[in-house]
Amino acid sequence: MAKENETILQLINVNKEFDGSVVVDNFNLDVKKGEFVTFLGPSGCGKTTTLRMIAGLEMPTSGQILLNGKDIAQLPPHKRPLNTVFQRYALFPHLDVYDNIAFGLKLKRIPYEYTDKNGNKKEKLRKYTREEIDAKISKALKIVDLEGFEMRDVATLSGGQQQRVAIARAIVNEPEILLLDEPLGALDLKMRKEMQLELKEMHKKLGITFIYVTHDQEEALTMSDRIVVIEDGIIQQIGTPMDIYNEPSNAFVADFIGESNIYVGTMIDKLKVHFLGANWDCIDDFPLNEKVDVVVRPEDIIIKKPNEGKVKAKIVNKIFKGIHFQFTAMVGNNEVLIQSTVDHPVGEEISLSIDPDLIQIMHREYTTNIYNDAYIDKNNNVVFAGATWEVDVCQLVEGSSLDEKGYLITKEGKKYDLSDLDVIATVEMKDIDISDNLEEGNITGKIIQMVWIGDHYQLVVRTEDEEDFVLETEYTWNELDTVSVIIKKENIKLKLKADLADYEI
Ligand SMILES: Nc1ncnc2c1ncn2[C@@H]1O[C@H](COP(=O)(O)OP(=O)(O)OP(=O)(O)O)[C@@H](O)[C@H]1O
Ligand SMILES: [Mg+2]
Repeated sequence: MAKENETILQLINVNKEFDGSVVVDNFNLDVKKGEFVTFLGPSGCGKTTTLRMIAGLEMPTSGQILLNGKDIAQLPPHKRPLNTVFQRYALFPHLDVYDNIAFGLKLKRIPYEYTDKNGNKKEKLRKYTREEIDAKISKALKIVDLEGFEMRDVATLSGGQQQRVAIARAIVNEPEILLLDEPLGALDLKMRKEMQLELKEMHKKLGITFIYVTHDQEEALTMSDRIVVIEDGIIQQIGTPMDIYNEPSNAFVADFIGESNIYVGTMIDKLKVHFLGANWDCIDDFPLNEKVDVVVRPEDIIIKKPNEGKVKAKIVNKIFKGIHFQFTAMVGNNEVLIQSTVDHPVGEEISLSIDPDLIQIMHREYTTNIYNDAYIDKNNNVVFAGATWEVDVCQLVEGSSLDEKGYLITKEGKKYDLSDLDVIATVEMKDIDISDNLEEGNITGKIIQMVWIGDHYQLVVRTEDEEDFVLETEYTWNELDTVSVIIKKENIKLKLKADLADYEI
């Protein structure tokens, strides 16, 4: 058994592919004994798959999972000191609470030592006695706060009580690690909140390691010692709830965890950033002129009288949230979300200020779409990201033109056949359009990510072949919508990758 503060579980470069598509991408994580670690991320990001690999229900395509230092692949299922609680708790409806929990215990064989007639010590397997099972079950029911429920028919229990039985069934085996896959997903909000606190209590009482899966950021923030934020099979950030909330490592994490304002800014001086039409002092040092993502939490924006703050704003919307108001204000074309306990009327002219240390600055993940393995086809179109696009090939050589046969003629009179020429194609995010008319664009894909950046969305459209188009749009789309991608001829920039001389004719 691992000791306190020892690593109980290690995932090392774990990858998982299904039918050639990567769903868990180079996952690295150490979990300490007794920790409450949560996998947080949107639907389909690979949470369950990772949990199933830890449980040994699925084998990694590559990489290793070590439990107490041993490769899990070497451990037969019944020797794995872990149990899983699933979202659909799958109790046996024809059995009562006692028998549901006892089910696994009755099947279990435990080793015991005995002395044979020659006086030699030997080991044999035996079943648990009825008394042992009774004691274990009443202890487990006590932990899940269902004392005295042994004889109840599970069909007569509420959803929350049923889920507690499922948890009791998992902890009765005294696992070292409890894996919980969205165990509260089927409960209503109020019951969910209650069970969150109870699970946290159980974690304390049991002192074992919990690995918890959820797509609910609030749940992750309230319950966890550490959170692993996952998107699209890739770990975006690992940290305590405070770390992740206060210092999100990129715009995706910031957007996914809590409400936030995200803007595109520019570094205009040392520790000075320009966004929302003003120059702000900040505490993050980035290179001069670099475009950056700026994140400000709604509760960190201070509402002031019209001339006292840094930028003028106007309140356009307000929602009462119980303990505070949430305002939407406009600064020029940019929306700003503000939380305040002080009421203001909609329509009020105000100004805003933000403390320098509450302005979080991050590298922009995407700026331009770059397609490195593009090439020109025989019709002088460019092929990249699985589609063929009309393009102006004359941009490759200044002052060139095309003759009637489609050969490129330079101003010096040299002639080139560009077919199969390797090029690098780039398209600015703002130059990509999408349409829900799937015939309209050159290729279709699914919207896999959507982040609101002040006055527009940043979207990622992924094609079936896993090519990405990152774009900016002011229109609202839905995640997982299928759309077609449209790029105007003049917006595709080409650079030579091969030596043009090889294409002279
Ligand atoms: N057995 C399988 N065969 C093929 N693809 C699979 C299989 N299991 C999962 N996937 C795919 O792997 C991806 C990750 O799935 P996974 O169930 O791990 O996501 P998740 O993060 O748990 O999502 P959710 O929040 O919806 O439960 C999905 O695209 C899913 O369709
Ligand atoms: Mg899942």
